Amino acid sequence: DRQRRGELPRLVVTRALPDELSRRIARGWDVWTNPFDRTLTADELIAAAERQRAEVLLVMAMDRIDAQVIERLPDAVRIIATLSVGHDHIDLDAARARGIAVVHTPDILSDAVSEIALMLMLCAARRAREGERMLYERTWQGWSPTQLLGRDVTGARLGVLGMGRIGRTIARRARTAFDMELHYHNRSRLAPGLEEGAIYHPDAEGLLAASDFLVLAAPSNPQTRGFLNRERLALLPRGAIVVNIARGDLVDDEALVAALQSGHVAAAGLDVFNGEPDIHPGYLDLPNVFLQPHQGSSTVGTRVRMGHMLLDAIEACSAGQSVPNRLV
Ligand code: DGY
Repeated sequence: DRQRRGELPRLVVTRALPDELSRRIARGWDVWTNPFDRTLTADELIAAAERQRAEVLLVMAMDRIDAQVIERLPDAVRIIATLSVGHDHIDLDAARARGIAVVHTPDILSDAVSEIALMLMLCAARRAREGERMLYERTWQGWSPTQLLGRDVTGARLGVLGMGRIGRTIARRARTAFDMELHYHNRSRLAPGLEEGAIYHPDAEGLLAASDFLVLAAPSNPQTRGFLNRERLALLPRGAIVVNIARGDLVDDEALVAALQSGHVAAAGLDVFNGEPDIHPGYLDLPNVFLQPHQGSSTVGTRVRMGHMLLDAIEACSAGQSVPNRLV
C-alpha cells in the first residue's frame, strides 16, 4: 500500500557501505545509516529501528542479533538482511517466532574467501611475518641457505573441516594450484561429484591425523564451537599448519597458542578471532602466526556483489517472492 502511495520502504543499515551500494539504497529506500565508524550497541540498533520505523535491518556479522534483541525490535521490522554468509550472529529461531525473514549472502564470496585461505596457508608455511619483520626492522643480513626455512605446500596433505561451498572452493584451488592431497570431514559425506577428489573422514579425529595443513571452513554452531581444542590439536602431526577463515570460536585460543609455542603446530594463519575486534594477546607475541583482520570477503567486487545480492533479496521478499538465500 505504502509503495502505491509513493513512499519508500524504510531501512536501517548498521555500517556505512561502499558508494555503489549506498547510491542504490538512496534511490529505493528511506534509509538511516549508522554514522559511526563502529558497531552499534543493541540499544542503539533498537532505537534506530524505532526512530526510522524500519521494515528492514541491513546488518553485519559483527552485530549480535540474539533473541533478546529480536524480542525488542519494533513490530514494523519484517526482514533482517545480513551482509555475510555466516549467520551465527542471528538467532534464527527467535526471528522465525516473530515472523521476521532473514536473508544472507551465500556462494558469492566463496572465491574471495578461498583466496584468503590460500594466502594464509602460504604466508604461514613460508614464514611471511618473520621475513617481513626482518626487512622492516632492518635486521636482514642477506640471503643464506638456512634463512627462514618454511614448509612445502605443494604435494602436502590438506585437511578441510567443513566442505560447504567455501571448503570445496579452497580444496579445488589447493589441488589445482599446489597439487595437494585432499582430506575432509563434514557433517555428512558429499556426493562423489562434489568431493573434489578429497578423502572423506567420517570422524574429525581421522581428518586431524591426516592434515599437514588444516583449514577450518565450517560454520560456527553448537557442533563446531570450540572444535580445535587441546585434545584435537594433539592429534595433528607435529609441525602441522592451522588456518582459520571461518569463525574464531571454532578454536580454543589458549590451546592453539600453547601448541604454537611448543612447535607442535608450526604456524597458523588466522583471519577470524574469538571476541573480535579483540584478539588473544598470545598470538601477538608469536612469530609463527600470520594474522589478518577478518578480510575474507573484502574485495571491491565481492563486497559490491554481496550488497546487490542482499538488496535483490530484500526487494523480492518485500514483494512476497521466494529467494534461495532466505534462511527463515
Ligand atoms: C561472512 O560473510 O560471514 C564474513 O565473515 C563477513 O562477515
